[in-house]
Amino acid sequence: MRVGILTGGGDCPGLNAVLRGFVLRHVREHGHEALGFEGGWKGLLENRARPLAPDDVEFLWNVGGTVLGTSRTNPYKVEGGTAKIRATWQARGLDALVAIGGEDTLGVATKLADEGLALVGVPKTIDNDLSGTDYTFGFDTAINIAAEAIDRLHTTARSHGRALVCEVMGRHAGWIGAYAGLAGGAHVTLLPEFTIDVDAVCATVRARREHGAGYSIVVVSEGALLEDANATVAQGTDAFGHVRLGGVGQRLAERIEQETGVETRAVVLGHIQRGGAPSAYDRVLATRFGVRAADLVDEKTFGVMVSLQGTRITEVPLVEATGTLKTVPASFYEMIQGVSG
Ligand code: F6P
Repeated sequence: MRVGILTGGGDCPGLNAVLRGFVLRHVREHGHEALGFEGGWKGLLENRARPLAPDDVEFLWNVGGTVLGTSRTNPYKVEGGTAKIRATWQARGLDALVAIGGEDTLGVATKLADEGLALVGVPKTIDNDLSGTDYTFGFDTAINIAAEAIDRLHTTARSHGRALVCEVMGRHAGWIGAYAGLAGGAHVTLLPEFTIDVDAVCATVRARREHGAGYSIVVVSEGALLEDANATVAQGTDAFGHVRLGGVGQRLAERIEQETGVETRAVVLGHIQRGGAPSAYDRVLATRFGVRAADLVDEKTFGVMVSLQGTRITEVPLVEATGTLKTVPASFYEMIQGVSG
């Protein structure tokens, strides 16, 4: 079998470990051929690919980013997009394609599978917001980086008696904020699922100045909404219609300082959460996902996404993963609030 593989959407620690797991299993164990498409769906539109042999991936277990490159290209927004994909598919003699991505990349994979192409999906996103899997790789690395940063913010905020607002990634789902806030002992955690009550945030900051340790750490997801929703929008939209977010941390810090008189600073962690080497957990999860994708292809099981359920690697229909976003439930948020402040 000749099988293509691509990495699409925002990059994510562990992508290379999936490529490594897939190629070692698919080529070395099952005796098939692997072809790496460059730059996500763009690689299929432009027929840009290279063979992937075990030697090409052997050293990738801990390498951040993706050696194939990535993009947020949406073939359904490109004129004749699916026809171009079919032409590449035929020209390359593909038997199947493995798409590693989040809601957007796998949304395209779902549509192509509906149109009859042999697709297997692998769930990737630091946001952990894909349904159909308990965790996506990249999330563990992101929350470890964020938690370490928040630990560091505590000591400087405490020394100065300041409030520090830490903006983390998370567009529509606040899993990074929720886990990093919990792991980093944040006093206030604000997520996209629940509109920010600025008065309540200021009340906590005031109370902590008067009765607490005199400082406050606020963790806010980039997609969390102030009453003025425009506060989070930086500029433009991508090919999947997502706005570029940023700015909520700064806006919130200004409001806190104005209303409480407590000196407040904002820190944006941004792409630091996505760059660099994957955590050990993500290396293992990504490798297991890659190996399972190779087995599914070998068994000719298509139209599915590999998935972690409990500690088991299994698969679910692609449509289950991309139908609805997995957001933070109110009960989990209430638990966080109960141990904060
Ligand atoms: O989807 C993952 C993610 O990291 C989001 O949390 C964030 O909003 C977005 O990607 C940033 O995308 P870009 O790298 O295009 O700025």
